[in-house]
Amino acid sequence: MTKRWTPDSWRNKPALHMPADYPDASELVRVEDELRAMPPLVFAGEARRLTNHLAQVEAGNAFLLQGGDCAESFKEFSTDNIRDTFRLILQMAVVLTFAGRKPVVKVGRIAGQFAKPRSSPVEEIGGVELPSYRGDIINGMAFTPEERVPDPQRLMKAYHQSAATLNLLRAFAGGGYADLYNIHRWTLGFADHGAGAAYRELAEKITEALAFMEAVGVTPETHPDLSRVEVFTSHEALLLNLESALTRLDGNTGEWFDTSAHMLWIGERTRQLDGAHIEFMKGISNPIGVKCGPTMTPDDILPLIDALNPNNIPGRLTLIGRFGHDKVGDRLPALMRAVKAEGKRVIWSIDPMHGNTLKAANGYKTRPFDRVMGEVRSFIDVAEAEGVHPGGVHLEMTGQNVTECLGGAQPVTEDDLSSRYHTHCDPRLNADQALELAFLVAERLKAGRQAQSKAA
Ligand code: PEP
Ligand code: CO
Repeated sequence: MTKRWTPDSWRNKPALHMPADYPDASELVRVEDELRAMPPLVFAGEARRLTNHLAQVEAGNAFLLQGGDCAESFKEFSTDNIRDTFRLILQMAVVLTFAGRKPVVKVGRIAGQFAKPRSSPVEEIGGVELPSYRGDIINGMAFTPEERVPDPQRLMKAYHQSAATLNLLRAFAGGGYADLYNIHRWTLGFADHGAGAAYRELAEKITEALAFMEAVGVTPETHPDLSRVEVFTSHEALLLNLESALTRLDGNTGEWFDTSAHMLWIGERTRQLDGAHIEFMKGISNPIGVKCGPTMTPDDILPLIDALNPNNIPGRLTLIGRFGHDKVGDRLPALMRAVKAEGKRVIWSIDPMHGNTLKAANGYKTRPFDRVMGEVRSFIDVAEAEGVHPGGVHLEMTGQNVTECLGGAQPVTEDDLSSRYHTHCDPRLNADQALELAFLVAERLKAGRQAQSKAA
C-alpha cells in the first residue's frame, strides 16, 4: 500500500543530487523551520492560473516561452540583470505572438533557480580535488575547501533574493514597463543589423497597429492588458528541503502548492520513478515539467506521466525534450507517438541547450548556436510529422551581452569565449542569439499557421 503523501514524504525515498554533507544537520532543520514560517513567494491562485494558460498550450492555442539563467547567483544579483532578462522575454514573446498569432505564456527560469545537479560530485583542478559547486543555494563557486562546504544559511539568502527578484518582476510586469506602447524603448542595446534590425521593423509594425487600434477606440484605458503582462516564475525542484518548507495547503481547495515558484520541473538526473523528487512532485498541484533526455523510452515515459498526472489534467504536465541536435530526430518520434496513442494530455516543449554542450579547445564549456537552432528545427519537424503541437521552448539565456555560446548572426568565436563568460554553470544564449532563435521559431509557427488555414 502506498503511504499518504505529505510535503515531507520524499524523505523516505532515495534523493539524488542533494547534499548529504551539511556539517551541522540541526542547523539545516532550524533553517527549514524558519522557511516554513516565511510568507509564500507565489499564491495558489496564480499557479492555478498558469495551469489554465498551459492548458491552452496543450490544446494548440498558445505557445510556452520558458527561459532564464542556468543558475542564478548571489553575485550577479542586480536590477539591471533582472530587467534585461525580463525585457528579453518580452521581446521574444512579441516576436512569437506576432508571427504565430497566438498568446505566448511567459515563464522565467528566475527568482529561485539556484540548485544544480552536477555530472560529478567532485571537481579536480591541478591535482587538487574538492566537492563540486552545486549552486549558490548549497555552496560557493570559488575553488577553496571552505567555499565548497554546504551552508544552510544559503537557503535563507536564496529565499530573500527570490522574494526581491519576484517583487521587481511584478513591478515591471504591472507598473508600466511592459506597456506595448513602450516597445521601441525595449530595443536599446540591440545592434542595427541581424535580429536587432528585424526586431525594430517588427516594433514599427506593432506601433502602427496600436495607432490604428487607438483610432477605433481600443486604448490602454479601455483595454488595460495593452499596458501589462503576466510573467510567471519557475525553477528546477532539486533542493527538496527548501521546496517542502515552502509547500502550503490552499485553504480554498485543500490542495498543496509549492509556493517557491509558479512552475517547477524535475531534471533529467532526478526523474527516477521511485525517487524522492518524483514523490515530492506527485503531491503538489503546481504545473510541473519533466526533462526528457536521449535515454528516455516510451516504457519510461508512460509510467512517469501516470505518476505525475494521474487525472490527465491538461496544463499540469510539460515534457521538456533535451536530446541533442543529432539525437532528437531519432528519439523524439517514438515518445510523441506513444504519449499521443495513450491519449495523454501533455505539452511538448524543447530544451535545445542541455544536449548540445561541448568543451572548446581552450577549455570553455560552450554550445554551438547552430546546434541549438538545429535541435529546435528538428523538434518542430518531428512534432508536425506526428501531428503534435510544438508547444514551447525552454532556454538558458540572459539579457546580458555575454560570450558563452558559439556562433550567431554576430558570431561569438572560440577566442571570444573568455571575454564575457559570466555564467555560474552552463553557457547561456545572449540577447542577440535568443532573439534570433525567437525569429526562427516565429517563422515556423507562421508557416504552420498558414498551412493550417490553407487546409481548412
Ligand atoms: C537545467 O535545466 O539546468 C538542467 C540541469 O537540465 P537537465 O536536467 O535537462 O540536464
Ligand atoms: Co543548465
